Amino acid sequence: MSHDFFPLRVAEIRRETSDAVSVRFEIPPDLADTFAFKAGQHLTLRRVFDGEEIRRNYSLCTAPHENILKISVKTIGSGLFSRWANEELKAGDSIDVMPPHGSFTWSFGSDAPRAYAAFAGGSGITPILSLIKTALYVEPNARFTLCYGNRTSAGVMFLEELASLKDRYLDRFALYHFLEDEEEEISIYNGRFDKPKVDDILESLIDPTRIDAFFICGPGPMMDAIEHSLTGHHVPKSKIMIERFTTGPVSAAQAAAARALEEKAAGLKMSVTLNGRRINVTFDPGKHSILDNVRAAGLPAPFACKGGVCATCRAKVTAGEVKMKVNYGLSEQELAEGYVLTCQATPVSEGVALTYDA
Ligand code: FES
Repeated sequence: MSHDFFPLRVAEIRRETSDAVSVRFEIPPDLADTFAFKAGQHLTLRRVFDGEEIRRNYSLCTAPHENILKISVKTIGSGLFSRWANEELKAGDSIDVMPPHGSFTWSFGSDAPRAYAAFAGGSGITPILSLIKTALYVEPNARFTLCYGNRTSAGVMFLEELASLKDRYLDRFALYHFLEDEEEEISIYNGRFDKPKVDDILESLIDPTRIDAFFICGPGPMMDAIEHSLTGHHVPKSKIMIERFTTGPVSAAQAAAARALEEKAAGLKMSVTLNGRRINVTFDPGKHSILDNVRAAGLPAPFACKGGVCATCRAKVTAGEVKMKVNYGLSEQELAEGYVLTCQATPVSEGVALTYDA
């Protein structure tokens, strides 16, 4: 995929809830292939705020067959980017967008009677909506069960679209809403997705032994609780897909360990290749990661989250050894093939060679 940015015009902004909008982009015909996407993928947006470039990832809420490039953006606290998108961005504006990427996806297309289930929390519904629409459209015999958690009914995103999917795929789409701050008569639908709640769901609403793939997207503690419950019900990790956009807070001990690793790497030499160009870089612990060292040395290495989740900064180590602080973005297979997240990586040996071109 291309890691370049392309200026795209905003075709439409639609308010989804009081704190979330969806943003639809125009796709110029000559960029149609570049912006083709798989269900569940996301876009990286870039904008300069007060001289500082900020990049953010937002999931696509549309399915590939809809031929619409649309993301949703929920305001997060004082988040500069999400506030700007919710309050100032308007139709006709242009914004830099990186083509779709991400591995929170699935190869849909089977005629077999597959069964899928998803847990979404808040704006975590966005990539899951894309996956649901795709599965039901592409696989005539697929069934999809969605458990969707929100604080209040007013905060439920895509309420109408989900209801119309339910009408359209009456026998194949099961939709359960869970509310944290509002009381339903049936107690299982009250409260948040913690482990006891998900255990309950797996013992009453969803039979985990019949599900081909689980998709999870929402706040970190919710995703951890669901994963914990699923593995406790003997669901293999290969059937659990998790989409993270942020990592949890870093403890003082983790920060100290990272700092020590960086200090130890001071002065180590690396050879780095990007777009066919190879340069030598000496690791400076003041710049923390291999990614920031490479960028400071003049190679425009790609990145988005800088938090170890999106894998935009992925590169392959071909010599020497590096260590990552966290990894939420690479699969076991990618790790075995030598890929690392350079925003999280520090060299631990002399003579590291890595390439962004692999
Ligand atoms: S920039 Fe997102 S994982 Fe490195």
